[in-house]
Amino acid sequence: MMQQGQPLSSAIEAIGNTPLVRLSRLTKGLDGQILAKLDYLNPGLSKKDRIARQIIEDAESENRLKPGQTVVELTSGNTGTGLAIVCGTKGYPFVAVMSKGNSMERARMMSALGAEVILVNQLQDSKPGQVSGGDLELVEKEAQRIVLERKAFRADQFRLSGNFRAHYLHTGPEFIEQSGGSIDAFCDFVGTGGSFAGCTAAFKAHNPRIRCFVVEPDGAAVLAKEPVTYPNHRIQGGGYSMPNLPLLQHEHIDGYLKVTDREAVDIARRLAREEGIFAGFSSGANVAAALYLLQTSFAGKTIAVILCDSGLKYLSTDLWA
Ligand SMILES: Cc1ncc(COP(=O)(O)O)c(C=O)c1O
Repeated sequence: MMQQGQPLSSAIEAIGNTPLVRLSRLTKGLDGQILAKLDYLNPGLSKKDRIARQIIEDAESENRLKPGQTVVELTSGNTGTGLAIVCGTKGYPFVAVMSKGNSMERARMMSALGAEVILVNQLQDSKPGQVSGGDLELVEKEAQRIVLERKAFRADQFRLSGNFRAHYLHTGPEFIEQSGGSIDAFCDFVGTGGSFAGCTAAFKAHNPRIRCFVVEPDGAAVLAKEPVTYPNHRIQGGGYSMPNLPLLQHEHIDGYLKVTDREAVDIARRLAREEGIFAGFSSGANVAAALYLLQTSFAGKTIAVILCDSGLKYLSTDLWA
């Protein structure tokens, strides 16, 4: 991990150790505090750099990845950007397979970082900016085809333990150390569930009383066992209506929270204007859920959240309109 005051040997070592900031302006007048981890400050502008590094370095150390072997992954853009950075630096060709429904900044950024980007059409009734579970199935099929065709290593973020380990070994312990062990609750918008699983495993090992909440889109809360009425929500990076997430440890889930598109957008905008924090939809969702906890059963407590990616990734959307 990063050491202060010394040059790093590559950008890979600049991944992680992100600052933790108290959102004092957004919580003004409320009892309690929200501590936000600025993971959009990673080199690829998202928390997914962490898992890219861990998945590749785990595979290297276990000889599952050969020198110069092609790496392939399905991505909503952020994992792909992390993998483009890690693979580019280490000399592995990288192919990112992404739905056309994700914002195009992401495809451009991955290409700029040396990735080959393959875009997959959405289902007929899906809209750009709204990637559903069905859209993701099409991307998965294409990723599997390319892995076979190129005898590639699949950096499978939904299944490989590197996704969990990145957050269990680093993000979670960083939260605990930076907060001085003061966290009462954690809420996290779930995509693969890797961040939730890794952080909550670290939190529960430290203090089993830390309460951990899954955040889902209103109308696509399958983990809370609700019917899916709104699969094409706008909170990119998660809420895929997948009831079985291999990395998620259900014994660490203390409850479920729902956030609407409107709430995620409003809070992302307030983060930018009031806190000087330029983050994306899912960061808005996490903070909206944390505000709800402070206003209800967690008044007076300390809530931890991850700010997952940068607002720069959504300049082509109406998040900043
Ligand atoms: C912007 C954004 N938010 C949230 C998530 C969900 O994180 P996780 O896959 O760790 O559940 C992702 C995952 O890709 C993401 O890109």
